[in-house]
Amino acid sequence: MPRIPFAVDSELPLYLAPMAGVSESPFRRICRRFGADVVVTEFLSAEGIRRENQATISKLKFGADERPIGVQIFGADPVAMGDAAALVTDVFQPEFIDINFGCPVKKVVRRNGGSGCLRDLDLVQTVIRSVASRTHLPVTVKIRSGWSEEMRDPVTIALRCQDAGARALALHPRTRTQMYSGSARWEEIAAVVDALEIPVIGNGDIKTAEDAVRLQRQTGCAAVMIARGAFGQPWIFNQTKALLAGLPKPEAPSVKERFAIAMDHAGMVESYEADLEGAAIEFRKHLGWYVKGLRDSAELRKKLYAVNRFGEIDGIFADYLARHQDDLAADHSGAVEVADYQDVTAAA
Ligand SMILES: Cc1cc2nc3c(=O)[nH]c(=O)nc-3n(C[C@H](O)[C@H](O)[C@H](O)COP(=O)(O)O)c2cc1C
Repeated sequence: MPRIPFAVDSELPLYLAPMAGVSESPFRRICRRFGADVVVTEFLSAEGIRRENQATISKLKFGADERPIGVQIFGADPVAMGDAAALVTDVFQPEFIDINFGCPVKKVVRRNGGSGCLRDLDLVQTVIRSVASRTHLPVTVKIRSGWSEEMRDPVTIALRCQDAGARALALHPRTRTQMYSGSARWEEIAAVVDALEIPVIGNGDIKTAEDAVRLQRQTGCAAVMIARGAFGQPWIFNQTKALLAGLPKPEAPSVKERFAIAMDHAGMVESYEADLEGAAIEFRKHLGWYVKGLRDSAELRKKLYAVNRFGEIDGIFADYLARHQDDLAADHSGAVEVADYQDVTAAA
C-alpha cells in the first residue's frame, strides 16, 4: 500500500478532517491526544493568506504537539494559490499543503473555489501544478466525487490530480450538489484506490470506530479521515486504533471524564483565543456535542447553549453531576454514540 508522503507514526494513519469553525488548534490538539495521527487546518483562503489578512493568518498558527499537520488552502487563482503555498511553507512549515477541491459552500464555489473547481479539471491541474511549483512540501488534495450527478466521475478527477502532482488524495464520495444528503459511496473510494498509485484517504459518514474499520476494510484506503464523527467524542480515534489492531474497543469515557475533557478543551480555547466572549459563544457547539445523549441532556444543553463566559461551564457540569449522582453510579449511560448530525451539516 502506498505510504502517506510525510513521516507519521502509524501504518494506517487516522486523520482529523479539516472543518471550518471546528478543526481549530485546541480541537486538533485534543484529537491528537486521543489518537488522531494527522490533523489539517480548516480551509483558508489563498487571497487572505497572500494579503496577510490578520484573521486568516491567526488561523495558521499551530503548536508543535499538533504535528504532523497540513494547512488547507482554497482558491481558483493559480497564482494566488502558489503565493499562499510559498508563504505558508516559509513561515509556518507544516508537514504538507492540502488543496480544498471539496467545499460546497455557495460563496466559495461562486468564485470557483472548493468543489467549484471540479467543473473544470484543467483548472484543477493548473492549481495543483502552481502550488507544487512554489513549495518543497508534499501537496495533497481533498475532493468530492464531482460537481453534480451528471459530472460524477471520481476516478477521472483523482487521476487528473495525481497526474498534476498531488502526492495523496482524500475523497469524500458525494457530489457538490448533494451537499451532505444521501450517503457517502464508499465503493467510489475503493475504485479510486484501485486506479491511483498515490495514497488515498477515505472519508465520509464514519460515526463510530466500527464504521472507520469497515470503511478501511471495504476500500483498502491508506488512511482514514474523520470529520463529524469526532464531534464530542475525540476518543473515536483511539477506539478505531484499537479495533484496527484487533484489540477490544476501549469504552467511551464516563460522564465525569467527558466533562473533564470538555473542561480541558475549554481551557485550551481560553488560552488560545483573544476575544474570550466570542470564543465562549463559539464553544457552545462543542459543549452541546460533548453532552449529546446524556440523561436529561436537553436541559443541560439549554444551559450550556446560554453560556457567555468560560467560567460558567464548570458550575453547570458540577450541578448536573450532583443531581445525577445516583443514576451515574448505577450505569454508564454516558457512553453514547454521536449519531445525529443533521443540525450541524445543514449549517456547514
Ligand atoms: C462543520 C464542517 C466544516 C467543514 N469544513 C471543511 C473544510 O474547511 N475543508 C474541507 O476540506 N472540508 C470541510 N468539511 C468537510 C469534511 O472535512 C468532510 O469531508 C465531510 O464532513 C465528510 O466527512 P464526515 O462524514 O466524517 O463528516 C467540513 C465539514 C463540516 C461538517
